[in-house]
Amino acid sequence: MGSLGRAMFYRPERQRVRELLSRDSRPKLLINGSEFPIFDLSMNGLSFLTPNGAGEWSLGKTIDLELLLHNEPIYHGTAHVARIEPGPRGARIGVGLMTGFLDLPEIRRRDDQKLLEEQLDNGATDQLAKVPAAFREKVSEFLHFYQYYRRALDFHERRFRAEGATDQDLLEFAQRAFEALCGPYYQLDREATAVARKYITDRETLVAAKEYTETVLAPLMLDIPFANRAYLKPLGYPGDYQVMRYYYNKSFEGDSVFAKVLHRIGIEHPLANGVCTRKDFIRELIGREHDRVLSERGDACEFRVAILGCGPAREVSEYVAERRNWPGTAIFTLIDQEEEALGVAFRACKREIGRFDSPAQLDLLNLSFVQMISEGVPLHDPESQDYVYCTGLFDYIKTRRAQGLICALYDLVAPGGLMSLGNAIGPPECWWTAEFLGDWTMIYRTRKEVEELGATLPDTAVREVVAEPGNAYFFLNVRKPKAG
Ligand SMILES: C[S@@+](CC[C@H](N)C(=O)[O-])C[C@H]1O[C@@H](n2cnc3c(N)ncnc32)[C@H](O)[C@@H]1O
Repeated sequence: MGSLGRAMFYRPERQRVRELLSRDSRPKLLINGSEFPIFDLSMNGLSFLTPNGAGEWSLGKTIDLELLLHNEPIYHGTAHVARIEPGPRGARIGVGLMTGFLDLPEIRRRDDQKLLEEQLDNGATDQLAKVPAAFREKVSEFLHFYQYYRRALDFHERRFRAEGATDQDLLEFAQRAFEALCGPYYQLDREATAVARKYITDRETLVAAKEYTETVLAPLMLDIPFANRAYLKPLGYPGDYQVMRYYYNKSFEGDSVFAKVLHRIGIEHPLANGVCTRKDFIRELIGREHDRVLSERGDACEFRVAILGCGPAREVSEYVAERRNWPGTAIFTLIDQEEEALGVAFRACKREIGRFDSPAQLDLLNLSFVQMISEGVPLHDPESQDYVYCTGLFDYIKTRRAQGLICALYDLVAPGGLMSLGNAIGPPECWWTAEFLGDWTMIYRTRKEVEELGATLPDTAVREVVAEPGNAYFFLNVRKPKAG
């Protein structure tokens, strides 16, 4: 094969710019003297985005390429266009360097070194200066709240333990403290939300305010199980079925009474409560659609439900436990990109099915919605599902992409069938703790914005937008007309 043949098989790893470099590096890419946003970098090339499409680019075209970080040049040379990938908003152009290479570890080291210099050179004062005073005041109130109650609850926990308190006694203490503290805590959240809305008006201030909150408060929360999981995001953003389990279980978790109380306050937040009420809302819709299918197709029918981003699928196990038996068979297809989430959902649903010998079948698909959009759902024919739903995923997907996914989901819906898609209601009254404390960014949508998600569906699709009973999530419900 020779050395050239081997070289062709080696493709250096590409790294997303936002993962490789700090926010402060301000990467600047100049192609033939004009600036373009960089997408990713590898040792021997990079790709960038062109908002005006692929028009002026052709494969093999030679270009002059200059890359600057922290306003200092780190590469200057020629490159050729190696890939052109048109996308919904412009194109991504991949180029191969014709001279030299990008030493990524060295680039990262230089970035870190610059960061250190900036931090040592008045970094703390500079950070403060970027954060509005009213916002800092709210952070300081939260800080006081945390430290005051940590000190108080720790003191009484030690006292009760010394007096021989049982686990049950300590749980009662936690319950009492929870009842006393949740009101003031949510009030603080509402006030901080109002302040953030008023003063955080541009991206730079938002970033500074988030960094400031993380610096001051985040390290104090890491012993609170919910806050730890939400903030560190071991499974990525919408990835966390464990967070959903915390919400559904509503228990006191944590090593100290303080941690238990703050955990419980976090999982009873209005958005978290909404997760529980939307689960009940969906469970009822499963029942209604099941009745519809039974009345339309008779007792021997199959009732088919597909769930995207199923997480623990608590509504399914509860539905089985509640209804127990029915004529025909119910087939639930659980789809999630996280294998662990599917395992949790499978065990919980299987337990209930086994307990009542319910005529239900579970199909599990370890799949990302990105694959669904491009390839459909394996083993499932178009128009094969009586009910398709998705909760906890659209809050992370931008509108264009969401519309593509919604069309793919609608293809699965059988004539006469229903599709329900949940999205957090915007603007929320309590947003501060999620956005700033938990660094948990979601797309909260107004009724109109949720309606817009269905804009690319066929005209014949019958839509409505309804709020679930907790009033934290909207649902876009879409009915596919019956055939003929
Ligand atoms: C916020 S949880 C919601 C879970 C469940 N629907 C509920 O409401 O309890 C989001 C779920 O979507 C899954 N998920 C995240 N990104 C996904 C993707 N790209 N494709 C499929 N599932 C995804 C996660 O693994 C997680 O289980």
